[in-house]
Amino acid sequence: CGIVGIVGKEPVAERLVDALRRLEYRGYDSAGVATIHDGAMDRRRAEGKLFNLEKKLAGEPLPGTIGIAHTRWATHGVPNETNAHPHFVEGVAVVHNGIIENFSELRDELTAEGAVFTSQTDTEVVAHLLAKFTREGMGHRDAMLAMLNRVTGAYALVVMFQDDPGTILSARFGPPLAVGHGRGEMFLGSDAIALAPFTNQITYLVDGDCAVLTANGVTITDFAGKPVERPIQISQAAALMVDKGNHRHFMEKEIYEQPEIISHALSHYVDFASGSIKQKAEAIDFAKLRSLAISACGTAYLSGLVGKYWFERYARLPVEIDVASEFRYRDIPLSKDQAALFISQSGETADTLASLRYCKEEGLPIGAVVNVKESTIAREADAIFPILAGPEIGVASTKAFTCQLAVLAALSIQAGRARGILTEAQEKELVRHLIEMPRIMSKVLNLIQPQIEQLSRDLSRFKDVLYLGRGTSYPLAMEGALKLKEISYIHAEGYAAGELKHGPIALIDEHMPVIVIAPHDRFFEKTVSNMQEVAARGGKIIFITDEKGAAASKLATMATIVLPNVDEVIAPMIFALPIQLLAYHTAVFMGTDVDQPRNLAKSVTVE
Ligand code: G6P
Repeated sequence: CGIVGIVGKEPVAERLVDALRRLEYRGYDSAGVATIHDGAMDRRRAEGKLFNLEKKLAGEPLPGTIGIAHTRWATHGVPNETNAHPHFVEGVAVVHNGIIENFSELRDELTAEGAVFTSQTDTEVVAHLLAKFTREGMGHRDAMLAMLNRVTGAYALVVMFQDDPGTILSARFGPPLAVGHGRGEMFLGSDAIALAPFTNQITYLVDGDCAVLTANGVTITDFAGKPVERPIQISQAAALMVDKGNHRHFMEKEIYEQPEIISHALSHYVDFASGSIKQKAEAIDFAKLRSLAISACGTAYLSGLVGKYWFERYARLPVEIDVASEFRYRDIPLSKDQAALFISQSGETADTLASLRYCKEEGLPIGAVVNVKESTIAREADAIFPILAGPEIGVASTKAFTCQLAVLAALSIQAGRARGILTEAQEKELVRHLIEMPRIMSKVLNLIQPQIEQLSRDLSRFKDVLYLGRGTSYPLAMEGALKLKEISYIHAEGYAAGELKHGPIALIDEHMPVIVIAPHDRFFEKTVSNMQEVAARGGKIIFITDEKGAAASKLATMATIVLPNVDEVIAPMIFALPIQLLAYHTAVFMGTDVDQPRNLAKSVTVE
């Protein structure tokens, strides 16, 4: 969910909605805004996209110079208007991002005391607790602290009291919150980008902070009420605001900007003149590591899985990898001769952050491969490896994925050198391929676009699709399936080609196309054998290969997409392009909401 609050001197409603628009990547199931005006608190809420809230506000405007607002990604309770934030109870207004884990216990307790709940959300207990403590005679700040001592879970909370139209209270424990300092106005938001048009002076709250804002400033304490000092930082977020350019969707723009962006990202890691990798990881001594633990979610996890193949191959460094939601609870035995690497576009994903903190407690050096340099994961890591992809707006990740891959490739080569596995000549050879990559990406994007657009029409008729790959093409197969299901809602699965015979082969028939990702690498013949097994059972095949591999194209009954021959080290980035475009065009053809697919959010700060 995305949160924003303003306390100041000018009307706030329109500016709050503006800020929400920049936070829609955090969820877009419903939205709401509340203000206080002439001693009365009022709100507008609407199901669905922000647009619906704007329409409502146009018909019934909300005056007032103090307000809070929210865009929701539903956890507890369906995304309808009743469950939309802000929640009101007896002159208290609350917006919340996160999950109150003991909400049902608290709700029972409050109900027994006579409270009447009007929504199915976990958030409403916060409003009831605050109302109760105020009724019992506590001041607003004390009520806030008392409430914080009762709730467990993860939360960014922002609160207003009707009888105090000059103050906004907030607390962070888990999901991010940033305070913005203006002139005679103060702001709160889930990130600095939301606040960018208002101010670039930002104070990031840390877990366990409670902040009280008035138009003139902020006081921050811990949950016991003890004052704490947090610095004001100058945020670069304003420079990051983006539009779609000439593209129909952000996703399309982000796919097409990959050659340029990767080239920019690479220049951070690669010395083009000497053809070597720049030393980037002072905090992590690859030479001494026994193993590396990688954890991440979604697409970032799949880039980590490709990274595993590279670290093991180029650096002989064993890699433990898991999705962060498993990693954090797996009771994984760790020791100090390991390092941990976390990959996250947003740098805010709750499960990834929790895994990071787990490894930190175990005393491991922590590296973070992130896009947002000001994020919590970046701030808590010992070494930051920025992917420099620029803001990614499309919910389905594209350029962040390939930039993560580029960074992981560079790091694995660096590790290979540090561990004495790669010679200088081998490093130069690998770097040469990395340097060539942007040019090849441009060529491929132009080359395949018309064919893929055509093919997407065929693909859109199916209900299930299977992706197969081997080696680094296996994570890529999973990424292809993830992209397709996320934005076209076609059921898709990615499988290791060799696992086909252990189950999915039972599904093969003319109703399920099989997309085989097979560059002509060390595994090519093996993958082709698996493709034979599909063909022998009448399966429809889309074969994504290179010029050398194209000889096997007679098996491909639906299509063969032929890419240039490239070295193994850049194949995952190059082969990512057709799978991204295939998902994109299929979704466009089916008319789904490509940039904001149903039920998803770009940044997920709950577990
Ligand atoms: C969400 C997004 C995915 C993303 C994942 C991890 O599910 O929709 O695109 O891969 O979170 O996000 P992160 O910001 O940690 O990379």
